[in-house]
Amino acid sequence: MNRRNFIKIVGLGAGAAALSSAVIINNGRSNSSDNFGWNGPDSSETDIRMQVLSYAILCPNAHNIQPWVVKMTGANRFDLLVDPDRLLPETDPIHRQIHISQGTFLETLAIAASGLGYEAKIDYFPQGMYSNTELVDKPVASIELIKSDKITPDPLFAFLLTRHSNKREYGNYSLSPAEMANLQTFAVEQCSYPLTITSSSEDKLKFEKILTEAMQIEVNDRGRSHETIALFRFDQDEVNKYRDGFGVSQAGLTGIKKLMVENFVLSREKTEQDSTEFDQQAVIMAQKTVSTTETFGWISSKGNSRLDQVIVGRDYCRLNLKTTAMGLAQHPMSQVLQEYSDMLPLQAEFKQAFGIDESKTVQMLFRLGKAEKTPHGPRRLVSELVKS
Ligand SMILES: Cc1cc2nc3c(=O)[nH]c(=O)nc-3n(C[C@H](O)[C@H](O)[C@H](O)COP(=O)(O)O)c2cc1C
Repeated sequence: MNRRNFIKIVGLGAGAAALSSAVIINNGRSNSSDNFGWNGPDSSETDIRMQVLSYAILCPNAHNIQPWVVKMTGANRFDLLVDPDRLLPETDPIHRQIHISQGTFLETLAIAASGLGYEAKIDYFPQGMYSNTELVDKPVASIELIKSDKITPDPLFAFLLTRHSNKREYGNYSLSPAEMANLQTFAVEQCSYPLTITSSSEDKLKFEKILTEAMQIEVNDRGRSHETIALFRFDQDEVNKYRDGFGVSQAGLTGIKKLMVENFVLSREKTEQDSTEFDQQAVIMAQKTVSTTETFGWISSKGNSRLDQVIVGRDYCRLNLKTTAMGLAQHPMSQVLQEYSDMLPLQAEFKQAFGIDESKTVQMLFRLGKAEKTPHGPRRLVSELVKS
């Protein structure tokens, strides 16, 4: 990929409407009729388990890898397990983010159940919890859906189909003191782990340096970079085929710009041969997005057991739904939190810069602001998760 070409094409204005035939051909590709999961459960679906699972798959999850297996265990019961074929061993070597992504799934499921008149009774690690040095074929949770007339729908139910991670630039929107207080109160009342929010020019500069450097460290290694490339969807055909991962539309490119980049700039073949330009763009985008962000948040925990990770996921999901309800944009940036050895010195520097006790684990770090919505990332069919 030629970087100058990339930047030029990304910067195209509306005047680029003189379409080439290649773009027109690409434009004709069809999208999935189920909207890649984002219509919610099919109206003909009568099984409550399948209904709640149709919402659960819409949760935030690392790289949109969708690391879930569901085993049906009874009329209204099922187990949730990590899918061992959907891990990120290079960037998430201890599978911490994969377990956070189990928690986001459980939270979305519980909220959906409440909206459908059921209580989701969640029993964590019913066959025993395993450590951070292993991934064992045991359920993360057993779930029972209990119908109840007394259940109050969670107000966040209304936002399950609109929540998303917004990777755009945020135009230096700073959360107002009232917005920050609203989020803090929400976290104190409804989350298990502390939320820290900061909005200052001094912190912004620190984040710009650290998060850009973190992305540079991440892409310095071929294995790490190629793990991301494997989940990058280069065109609509890949989206249709895999229904996971993320592409240029999730970064905020739409319409003609998106088509131009997909048709003329990015290709899997070229990028897999030589990822230099792709990697450089990742660093440039990290720097640009952070430099347009005024407010940052993080969730940290004293412990870092598998259960901590799952409950953090539940918290993070609730916060993302709450910011959606408040009309705010939210975007995790996880590179500096990752556990591979190359990142550890910068991680220590990050903790020191923000006065975070080195014994604590920063589980989620994210930008907050305002930006136009981006298209949703695709989801697989629920039936693909369910194993009997
Ligand atoms: C544990 C975790 C870590 C994440 N880390 C990043 C990240 O470093 N960079 C990023 O752009 N998005 C990150 N995300 C957001 C995911 O990419 C996003 O949730 C996924 O692509 C699905 O998209 P959606 O949230 O818009 O539905 C993370 C999400 C989770 C749950």
